[in-house]
Amino acid sequence: MTSRLIALAAPAFAMIFASPTAPKAQSVPPSAATFTEPLAVEREQIRPDAASLPVPRGFTREQILLGDRVFHGEAAGGQCSQCHGWDAKGTPVGNDLTTGMYIWGDGSVNTIKRTIMHNMAVAPGMDGNLKPADVDAVAAYVWALGRRNP
Ligand code: HEC
Repeated sequence: MTSRLIALAAPAFAMIFASPTAPKAQSVPPSAATFTEPLAVEREQIRPDAASLPVPRGFTREQILLGDRVFHGEAAGGQCSQCHGWDAKGTPVGNDLTTGMYIWGDGSVNTIKRTIMHNMAVAPGMDGNLKPADVDAVAAYVWALGRRNP
């Protein structure tokens, strides 16, 4: 029964979809067919207000403020914002760090710190002068970014 219905309906569908007015596929230049344009970052990027971000347990406001400066290239030669965006909401070369969701780890300061030390150190243009205290601070800062809107 069902198959007979399908057999009857199929030609009708074929007529609808093969309508002569349907636009034909455009031919695409080979370059556009194999590559896509990089995503543009066109939003207005507003730097999060580090003074009002939450502070993880065991850390201080001063560390969040330092982490903010490391992130934005104002301390320890940090380059995080160049890839992750001035607002930390991501660019084509670094993901959004404000969602509270993490590929690596469970979102605790410790796992964020581990990611920064292991993954980010191998990123091109790596963050050269980060001392352990700077990594602690920027890890706490990234933690706070993900908990901005509880
Ligand atoms: C050269 C570009 C670049 C720089 C500089 C950079 N990152 Fe990243 N970051 C990435 C990319 C790409 C990923 C995604 C790949 C990965 O997780 O290994 C990422 C992932 C992350 C993650 C993991 C997020 C998750 O979902 O688990 C954290 C945390 C992070 N970056 C923090 C930082 C911090 C803090 C700095 C500065 C000290 C920094 N990054 C500098 C490109 C960069």
